[in-house]
Amino acid sequence: MIPQAFIEDIQTRTDIAEVIASYIPLKKMGRNFKGLCPFHGEKTPSFMVSPQKQIFHCFGCGEGGGVIQFLMLYEKVTFPEAIEILAQRLGVAIPYQRQEQNRMKPALYDAVQEASCFFHKNLLETKEGKFPLEYLYKRGIDIETIKKFRLGYALGRNTLIDTLRKKNFSLEALEKASLAVAKGPGGYRDVFNDRIMFPIFDARSKVIGFGGRIWKNLPDAPKYINSLEGPLYSKRDHLYGLNFAKDDVGKSDAVIVVEGYLDMIVPFSKGIHNIVASLGTALTVEQIRLIRRYTSNVVLLFDSDKAGELATLRALDLVLENDINVAIVSLPKGHDPDTLVRELGKDAFTQLLDKKTDFFEYKIAVFKRMYDIGTIEGKTKIAQEMLTTIAKLKSEIERYEYIKKLSLYLDIKEEVMLAEFRKVAVSATAANTRSEYRQAAPQPQERLSVTERVLLKFMFTNHKALAVIKRNVKESDFSSNIARKAAAYFFKQYAAGQEYSAQSVLGTIADKEVCSFVSQILMDEEIPLDKELFKSSLAKVLTRRVKTIKERMKTEIKEAEKNGDRERIRVLVNQYSRINSEGQDE
Ligand code: UTP
Ligand code: MN
Repeated sequence: MIPQAFIEDIQTRTDIAEVIASYIPLKKMGRNFKGLCPFHGEKTPSFMVSPQKQIFHCFGCGEGGGVIQFLMLYEKVTFPEAIEILAQRLGVAIPYQRQEQNRMKPALYDAVQEASCFFHKNLLETKEGKFPLEYLYKRGIDIETIKKFRLGYALGRNTLIDTLRKKNFSLEALEKASLAVAKGPGGYRDVFNDRIMFPIFDARSKVIGFGGRIWKNLPDAPKYINSLEGPLYSKRDHLYGLNFAKDDVGKSDAVIVVEGYLDMIVPFSKGIHNIVASLGTALTVEQIRLIRRYTSNVVLLFDSDKAGELATLRALDLVLENDINVAIVSLPKGHDPDTLVRELGKDAFTQLLDKKTDFFEYKIAVFKRMYDIGTIEGKTKIAQEMLTTIAKLKSEIERYEYIKKLSLYLDIKEEVMLAEFRKVAVSATAANTRSEYRQAAPQPQERLSVTERVLLKFMFTNHKALAVIKRNVKESDFSSNIARKAAAYFFKQYAAGQEYSAQSVLGTIADKEVCSFVSQILMDEEIPLDKELFKSSLAKVLTRRVKTIKERMKTEIKEAEKNGDRERIRVLVNQYSRINSEGQDE
């Protein structure tokens, strides 16, 4: 928790132009600076930095925001990490407001780090570690890999508790770090007993938890025991191996996602370096967001059994919804990535990766096995399932192409398929707006009228204008989704009359899409901050709202007439004339 006042303070003490110029060359152009955008490839500069407004915006790709957003994008860091960078630049410390739970965090990091070293040493240097070590060798894992991934061995029998207690870790800390578990009153025991240990690292290579695998044949024991979710470790926020893979993921602009620890480690050790594991869950939105920091191309490499198939299908929609390109590789029956790369070698593995299918082919193949394509019910079911996924695509063209493909495939007329799609898409877009991690749309203000843009610019810069807008305008008066979202944010965030600047505003917006939208409006010199224009824009919005309501009522009245619903007609006509006279008052 970083206090808001501190965030505002370091922003006012930082010059965005200076920070950005330390990363990329900028040229002075009138009041602004211009340069080649670092976030998309371009030959003529469309990346603008305004020292007055303390914002940047690229008119090419739509990225934009304040200095914090620039750092988040450029350094690929989180919001608090960006603030840390700024604070360091200024040589000040962040006055963290530690939450109760967070106060212990440094001790927990230390505990799991110490534990990982203890386990590693046990594996390599003790006589008890000899057989587990041999087990790993037998599975084709060499000593370099064991060292790189800091694999270990937990003897159990409270050896870990005893060791860490001697280093002054409290039992409470060990329990919170999921290394010790309470057993009866006052007694604790090791969580991991006689298991091969896989430390789980976060993207910055800090240990946050463990997976422990049995290595003997114990039919009743669970294969893996994992750290419980706690202050350090939460499964849905992490990808196993990302710390090792991230550079290559960035370089190759693609990531291979597998399920298990060894499915990641073994291919990695054979030279496949852009690989991560989802840790036995279907991909979560958080994991997808993490991936998006490095690439927007995902290859899913899940088992071809029923569970793997379901996990893949679930991941598909989520990934597409977040505007990531996805391909699927089906593994030959009975294989997982680990056995495959070991038996066939790296080249065969890479060849298999080249045989990936797109989401369409994959999903339709799965559903063809589940439903009978020869029956009407089967066709309907398949069409609906496919259309739901197609609706997640962001590109209009892609959507159309896939709908065409589907209509050919199922032998249904294109018009019919398009009509069906529209029905499915209505509910799908509702779901889409809920996903907050989609990339910024390149030209989100395209559909906005000058009137709306004027109101928005006033809203984003002038606290008095916001008060007036808040009284008279509703979110729903704006005609694009993103404008409505931005307006909702301002209505909620800023109490009427409370002063703010472009800079402080951008520093508080966590939603990337909203942020680039706001920066684009702010940067647009064609929108003048003219008081008369503001008044007339406000009036226009109000008139338009009345007009829309009136039109909607007219249709409703017609509908009621058709149904012969007299009572309804009476009510509606009454309302209509009331609105009409109100409209004339204005
Ligand atoms: P797998 O059963 O495919 O295991 O589970 P694996 O990683 O390939 O291990 P080997 O090859 O059998 O040694 C995939 C992942 O699911 C989670 C683990 O994260 C595992 O890596 N899992 C599996 C558990 O958490 N608990 C279990 O009991 C089994
Ligand atoms: Mn396996």
